[in-house]
Amino acid sequence: MKITTLKNVKNLKNKVVFLRVDFNVALNKGKVAEDYRLVAGLETINFLLERGARVVVATHLGDPKGKIVKELSVKPVALRLKALLKKPVKFIPEVVGEKVNKAISILKAGELMMLENLRFHPGELTNDKKFAKELVAQADIYVNDAFAVCHREQASVVAVKSFLPAYAGLLLEKEVIALNKVLKPTKPLVVIMGGAKISTKAPLITKLYKTASQILLGGALANNFFKYQKLEIGKSLFDADSLAEVKKFYQGKKLASKIILPLDVVVKTRKGTAAVRYLNEVKSGESILDIGPETIALYSKYIKAAHTLVWNGPMGKFEEASFKHGTLAIALLVASRASGKAFGLVGGGETVEALRLTKMEQYVDWVSTAGGAMLTYLSGGKMPGLVKIVSK
Ligand code: 3PG
Repeated sequence: MKITTLKNVKNLKNKVVFLRVDFNVALNKGKVAEDYRLVAGLETINFLLERGARVVVATHLGDPKGKIVKELSVKPVALRLKALLKKPVKFIPEVVGEKVNKAISILKAGELMMLENLRFHPGELTNDKKFAKELVAQADIYVNDAFAVCHREQASVVAVKSFLPAYAGLLLEKEVIALNKVLKPTKPLVVIMGGAKISTKAPLITKLYKTASQILLGGALANNFFKYQKLEIGKSLFDADSLAEVKKFYQGKKLASKIILPLDVVVKTRKGTAAVRYLNEVKSGESILDIGPETIALYSKYIKAAHTLVWNGPMGKFEEASFKHGTLAIALLVASRASGKAFGLVGGGETVEALRLTKMEQYVDWVSTAGGAMLTYLSGGKMPGLVKIVSK
């Protein structure tokens, strides 16, 4: 694998660098609620500033669909970035145009400015060449540090590369190296998957099935399998369109041997209380919201034997105190096994949030900033954002 890395750029002094980051973070009441993506991006920004580059930072935030949506302005992100960097961040409330050009022209070596939400412009979403050209018209080089959006065919990650030399940022480089350790794992590889949508996870289960020793399922993802087996799942979340996808993992009634389903679950009863149930005990008005204690014990046995671990997707509704135990137990198990015995990789917004609740994220070898892009990369899907930057 060859990565065209920013580290190899000889002279950055006075160069205008268009830096695409993924600071698509959660906001709460106009403030950044969760800043791990910003923290992860600081290394590249500091690298550039220390070498005297003139840095233009750009990100998307949410999905404004090519229109200006006030609540999705990146101004709060710029403010948090300023606090984290302890350096001025000049926020320009536009994506392209006169104001942007003027601001770049007076930007000095070692200074940084940030553009408004790229997705306020329709050209971003359509990968429009004209828009891309305007976006980087004054830049000398393009740096992509936004691995989390590299599965999207959008102007600031794809079309811009037609106009100037492109390099991988330090975070993007680390993401790719870490994910490749899962694709060529030290065995046994144990994959833990939860969350809701089977359509985004099925390709990964298929891809890693050959190399993995076990694929442990939880969350609403497992409900799809229970439903397929005609088990009562009450009011639990499941994806009605998923059954054809799920069927692929069965031979008749027999589930593929490496796919492991929960033995027991925690439900929310009709009265709103939490109760542990075996799968054949769930009642019609109940919702499955967590994996049960026997499942945790079983999954722990597999996790403790792993030499490579990947975890994406919570095991249940961990935001509710009564249903957090399964997810937090998995987080603790993954973190402790990864603290020396196994290479551990955790990714996905909610998954990382759960891991952080254990305050053990420092023991995990790689906490990915990506969700969908991580799943796409690991499943062998298209990553147009990596073209010209990462090659096999
Ligand atoms: C993410 O949060 O996974 C990335 O920022 C990509 O966002 P998107 O799914 O809206 O393209």
